[in-house]
Amino acid sequence: SDGDALLEHGEKVFRKCSACHAVGDGARNKVGPHLNGIMGRTMGSVEGFKYSDGFADANAEGKVWTTEEMVAFLAKPKSYMKGTKMVFAGLKKDEDLEAITAYLASFSE
Ligand code: HEM
Repeated sequence: SDGDALLEHGEKVFRKCSACHAVGDGARNKVGPHLNGIMGRTMGSVEGFKYSDGFADANAEGKVWTTEEMVAFLAKPKSYMKGTKMVFAGLKKDEDLEAITAYLASFSE
């Protein structure tokens, strides 16, 4: 189905993330926090991960990872979150942003 194709594409896009992030069974923090349950979760809330001040503030404000926020962040991490420790240029293609968000959501149920 179309949903399967989207998740397959998302899995491919996640190769750009996997040097720093793990997701799925047994995922642990790496350079970045594990991403299990990330969609709908409060920003900066993975136990034992030391976030930048920007994400610590977002956490204190109770900001949540919605699809809209995730797409904005992953398109331009450094514009979205000043001073972020995430060294990643961002995803340029709308189809990649849609797919990665769906992929992350599939580990957030
Ligand atoms: C933070 C996703 C690529 C390193 C985050 C967060 C998300 C995320 C959602 C916030 C987590 C939270 O609120 O708990 C992704 C995705 C990527 C990607 C989907 C690929 C498209 C990378 C890469 C690196 C990286 C390549 C390392 C070179 C980090 C770090 C943080 C972070 C260090 C913490 C940021 C901070 O505290 O400012 N990432 N990431 N990420 N990511 Fe990534």
